Amino acid sequence: MNSGQNLPPAEEKRATVTAMFDRIAPRYDLVNRLMTFRLDVKWRRKSIQALGLPDQSIILDIACGTGDFCRDLQKENFTSFGIDLSKGMLSSARTSSPLVNADALTLPIGDNSIDGVTCGFALRNFTSLPPFFEELERVLRSGGRIALLEVDQPANKILRFGHKIHFGKIVPLIGSLLSDNTAYRYLPESVSYLPAFEDLTSMLSTAGFIEVKKVKLTGGVAQVISATKP
Ligand SMILES: C[S@@+](CC[C@H](N)C(=O)[O-])C[C@H]1O[C@@H](n2cnc3c(N)ncnc32)[C@H](O)[C@@H]1O
Repeated sequence: MNSGQNLPPAEEKRATVTAMFDRIAPRYDLVNRLMTFRLDVKWRRKSIQALGLPDQSIILDIACGTGDFCRDLQKENFTSFGIDLSKGMLSSARTSSPLVNADALTLPIGDNSIDGVTCGFALRNFTSLPPFFEELERVLRSGGRIALLEVDQPANKILRFGHKIHFGKIVPLIGSLLSDNTAYRYLPESVSYLPAFEDLTSMLSTAGFIEVKKVKLTGGVAQVISATKP
């Protein structure tokens, strides 16, 4: 499944990923709902719960894409805004939250200025994670929280097998029929960019976070990692 043949070389990753999301933006929501059986909607809600922040908190959704997290955050009475590198994704967004075209690794936001961060299905797309976690630590106030939603691999052997077929074969098929063949072959392969939880914990601790916790979603096909800035 993760042969890596569709992954761009490191120096081209940022440009390749941006161009890819620009291309798939118009049908991104449709394909997302189909390939997750709408579970992505539930997973975002769980991620917002994992923040555990009070109403009116200011939450930045990083790599906001078409604005799903921003809409859900608003429904929960948070003040949300989003940033994303792909202008195509931003122009397909359906949210009244303010959205900014920017890179997650160089956030155009002041130090200690926000209460929380959400980030959905994007860690695999960044060129490097330690500078991203340092940026999160810089922009969050003391006591601020992060909730990072990502795909995962189930521990259970049968679930793992079914997940491998779904993610490795069915998702690329749905993607190629409805959207872009190359992009939806990249998606399962990009899982190889995602470090194990122990490594993510170590990177987050090095960046200054505490209380790093992982919650498995839907039998372990997705995960939300939360942490606190002390
Ligand atoms: C799989 S989509 C996820 C979109 C949305 N978060 C969701 O939950 O559906 C990944 C998003 O990450 C964005 N992205 C990739 N690299 C980025 C970067 N360095 N900075 C900001 N956004 C980035 C892409 O443009 C894309 O919109």
